[in-house]
Amino acid sequence: MTTDSHSTHTASEDARNRDIKIYVNGDIVHRDDAKVSVYDSGFMLGDGMWEGMRLYNGTWAFFDEHMDRFFNSCKAVAIDVGMDKAGIAEAMRKTAQANDMTTDVHCRLMLTRGVKIKPFQHPGLSQSGSTLVIIMEHSKPAPALQSKGIRLATVPQVRGLPMTQDAKYNSHSKLNCVIACLQAEQAGADEALMLDPLGFVNTTNACNFFIVRRGEVWTSTGDYCMNGVTRQKVIDLCQANDIPVFEKNYSLYEAYGADEAFLTGTFGAQTPVAEIDGKAIGTGERPMTERIRALYKDLIDEEVSR
Ligand SMILES: Cc1ncc(COP(=O)(O)O)c(C=O)c1O
Repeated sequence: MTTDSHSTHTASEDARNRDIKIYVNGDIVHRDDAKVSVYDSGFMLGDGMWEGMRLYNGTWAFFDEHMDRFFNSCKAVAIDVGMDKAGIAEAMRKTAQANDMTTDVHCRLMLTRGVKIKPFQHPGLSQSGSTLVIIMEHSKPAPALQSKGIRLATVPQVRGLPMTQDAKYNSHSKLNCVIACLQAEQAGADEALMLDPLGFVNTTNACNFFIVRRGEVWTSTGDYCMNGVTRQKVIDLCQANDIPVFEKNYSLYEAYGADEAFLTGTFGAQTPVAEIDGKAIGTGERPMTERIRALYKDLIDEEVSR
């Protein structure tokens, strides 16, 4: 990354992260000692699933929704989580406690098929149970994300059809998205805007994507992108607040001409998009994005006070 570029996951520097403790299969150890085997299926093949969650005043926002997606993904690829939702909650509680963390924390929960007996692909070679790692970092999205916004470039790499690798899998292997991100960087942008197999605007390499046109909020059909928890919350909030919202096919023609555009994800909630392919989006005024951000903040406050 160049010094003036940033990504949707750029956080303010926090020296405390140098000494965080990480959960590795039941042990909680200093980050320098947190290790998995080179035979682990996650390292060897990207064979695992993960979730990103955010802690607000002692509450993991939308924990149930994240767990629904996580357990559904693990079931679909036959990875035994080895515990239930309450077990995951307890492992996360212990990790947060060991780090004395209560708010402004981002968690990456990772589960792989586990250590293999031979360095080959067959899932049956993982015979000693899954590997669970929980990384929690002190994390506040960098303020520049809101003030400057993100620069996107449309890239050749697409998020594909469900029968190749369904975009709904939050899989360890993010190579598809990493390739897109590299292409965007080469084009001088911060992140990639990815199309679907038919050429309609789909998603970015790490977040879901929305545009605002003439008072309406549009996002892709959802067929070829991550079933983002934040994406769904934004759609629900629009519906509950009489903001016209549509999940539909649209092309770059409409994206370039949008009044506003923003990304959604657990890390940064809603992040404004400043430009796409060098074209400025709207006038830089973002009333709808700001309204949705405020509604989302209220929703988090509600969730935390329950
Ligand atoms: C490709 C991709 N899109 C979107 C998202 C955002 O999803 P969520 O809102 O559940 O954080 C993620 C986060 O994991 C992602 O990896």
